[in-house]
Amino acid sequence: MERSAKTRIIPAAEALAAACVEVEAGRPFAMPTETVYGLAADAGNGEAVARIYEIKGRPSFNPLIVHVSDLAMAQALADFSPLALGLAQAFWPGPLTMVLPRRTDCPIHPLVCAGLDTVALRHPLGPAAQVIAATGKPLAAPSANRSGRLSPTTAAAVARDLDGRIGLIVDGGPCPVGLESTIVKLEGERVILLRPGGIAVDALERVARCPVERPVSGAAIEAPGMLLSHYAPQARLRLNATALESREALLAFGPRRLSGHAMATAIENLSEAGDLREAATRLFDALAALDRRSDRIAVEPVPSHGLGEAINDRLTRAAAPRDAEP
Ligand code: TXA
Ligand code: MG
Repeated sequence: MERSAKTRIIPAAEALAAACVEVEAGRPFAMPTETVYGLAADAGNGEAVARIYEIKGRPSFNPLIVHVSDLAMAQALADFSPLALGLAQAFWPGPLTMVLPRRTDCPIHPLVCAGLDTVALRHPLGPAAQVIAATGKPLAAPSANRSGRLSPTTAAAVARDLDGRIGLIVDGGPCPVGLESTIVKLEGERVILLRPGGIAVDALERVARCPVERPVSGAAIEAPGMLLSHYAPQARLRLNATALESREALLAFGPRRLSGHAMATAIENLSEAGDLREAATRLFDALAALDRRSDRIAVEPVPSHGLGEAINDRLTRAAAPRDAEP
């Protein structure tokens, strides 16, 4: 993980131009929302999104929330049912995140959604929305903390975790809500609570005119790990392959091929140069492409440092026997 020379902390009222520069350059920066500070980058730029995971030191590719500056921008990304539209009109801008089906022409990079066919959307209050409106770019933003730490609600808390790792913190003072957004998944007429947060469930129910489904007590809320299994490829994956077996397609990494590679029924290389950031941006598309063309995929070893940990986590899940899933 390369370190930025210096992390600037700029008051929100003066930070718009600097924030737009970071967005256009594909460099993640910290910005306040009404809930917590987010580590934001252009959601259409795979390299920039890979950097978010790198900076957070996340050991897995959790899907990220995409932030928009108005409903029209959101509707260009996901299919809105009348119910979704009603909730957006009632609670946006505000601390409600809705997980909706991705539009087929959705320009969000697959790494943001961890390869899922849904996208989590929210329209935040405060300076974040101004940056999004000014660039016209939806921003992917998880909370601006290192993996495993608390979500930051002040610029100083962001700096304690990410100083030297990012170039800019937009300082909007303490976040008024101080708790992450409520996340619901909309499935037809069902509203399913994925994470409680800044909007109370009974407020949602009054607008939705239906009960919000909560996990039965004791059962875990639908965890990102379980969600990822929804996108498990059909093909059987063989990890850390050192020689190709018959009728296998090949998911390659780096400049050198394993023995027997010429027999592969199809090949996708995550990164010819052996660059883990590039590999992260190609992972979900490459897996999907091979899955369409073959029912067996050999995977060359991917180093486990840096983003390699998250790449290997995803590959391990994809290779797990289907009957071992929760
Ligand atoms: O208040 C918030 O929501 C803050 C601010 C910055 O907006 N963001 C935030 O992001 O808390 P993060 O990455 O820490 O949490 C995002 C959650 C993750 O638990 C992830 O699993 C879930 O959203 N998520 C994102 N996309 C999803 C999807 N397509 N399906 C299900 N869950 C999704
Ligand atoms: Mg978080």
